[in-house]
Amino acid sequence: MPCAETVHVPLPGRAYDVVIGPGLIAGAADHLGGLLKRPRVAIVTDAHVASRHLDALTAALDAAGIASSALTLPPGEATKSWPQFTRTVEWLLAEKIERRDVVVALGGGVIGDLVGFAAAVLRRGVRFVQIPTSLLAQVDSSVGGKTGINAPQGKNLIGAFHQPSLVLADTGVLDTLPRRDLLAGYGEVVKYGLLGDAGFFEWLETNGPALAAGDPAARLHAVRRSVEMKAEIVVRDETEQGDRALLNLGHTFCHALEAATGYSDRLLHGEGVAIGCALAFDLSARMGLCSQEDPSRVRAHLRAMGMKTDLSDIPGDLPDTAALIALMGQDKKVIDGKLRFILARGIGAAFVTDAVPADLLAQVLDDALSLRAHA
Ligand code: GLY
Repeated sequence: MPCAETVHVPLPGRAYDVVIGPGLIAGAADHLGGLLKRPRVAIVTDAHVASRHLDALTAALDAAGIASSALTLPPGEATKSWPQFTRTVEWLLAEKIERRDVVVALGGGVIGDLVGFAAAVLRRGVRFVQIPTSLLAQVDSSVGGKTGINAPQGKNLIGAFHQPSLVLADTGVLDTLPRRDLLAGYGEVVKYGLLGDAGFFEWLETNGPALAAGDPAARLHAVRRSVEMKAEIVVRDETEQGDRALLNLGHTFCHALEAATGYSDRLLHGEGVAIGCALAFDLSARMGLCSQEDPSRVRAHLRAMGMKTDLSDIPGDLPDTAALIALMGQDKKVIDGKLRFILARGIGAAFVTDAVPADLLAQVLDDALSLRAHA
């Protein structure tokens, strides 16, 4: 078993550690203990995660003399809503969670985002600890302090920046994930290589299959490198005035595809990110920014991993190019009505731009949709 490793996020006044490795739920008291002003925590989780990991966490805390109480919410994206948010905040108040206490978010991105937002507003802000249990949450959503819920108008439109005080990414829990969820999370891992580290992408080409098969050292390395990259970007641009948008490589396409598929299980977020990365490289190649081989190399790796790669991998109907472009107009990166894209000058060399010729964008989507028609 590999040992745990730590990535420090040195944000002034709110620095924290992301500890990564197997067995961290069983060892949670060792890491949490130092943060507590009194020996009790409130845990918020969902029913799926609770059935797998809640007993292990509460037993570990009990054994260290830390009392805990838990609220278990329904699993799924619909939980990121005002009713479950209100329920969570009112439960935390009923539990008499005080300003100096710590709230623990045990779960994937939905729980982390909702609980982080609840902690941000409870008594004008209490500390919280993320214990992310999906690969996607370990490499992306648990780090960086974006918290919030969805609105009827769109995803993540209500929220706050509130950094966690600690993240415990227990890579052992990845063994319990369904393969589809693991691979969807891997879409975000690939994103980091593509956006800023060609060497990491090359490492993934070689080691991705071992990671998917369960190799603990490969999992730890991939999570650590992803978190390191995310931490560097968040420290440069916490509130996304510039560089943080790089983390949205593939997301402009992904958000349109998620909206087109009704945020259903036809397309998981990480699957949309993977397809979106391939389309972003198509667009970059079409604009002459990167070589024609780069999009093929991206797709070859996604295919080798057994991931969704093209629009033809999305079941059911999709709208036409004009409708997909209209859906992109709802993207949070739109400024003054102009779409912003993350494009690439090569693998590992992404940048943010709003200078995308509309005809080339339409051609990329036309081609992708016509491949689907012929699939
Ligand atoms: N998931 C993108 C970000 O944290 O900025």
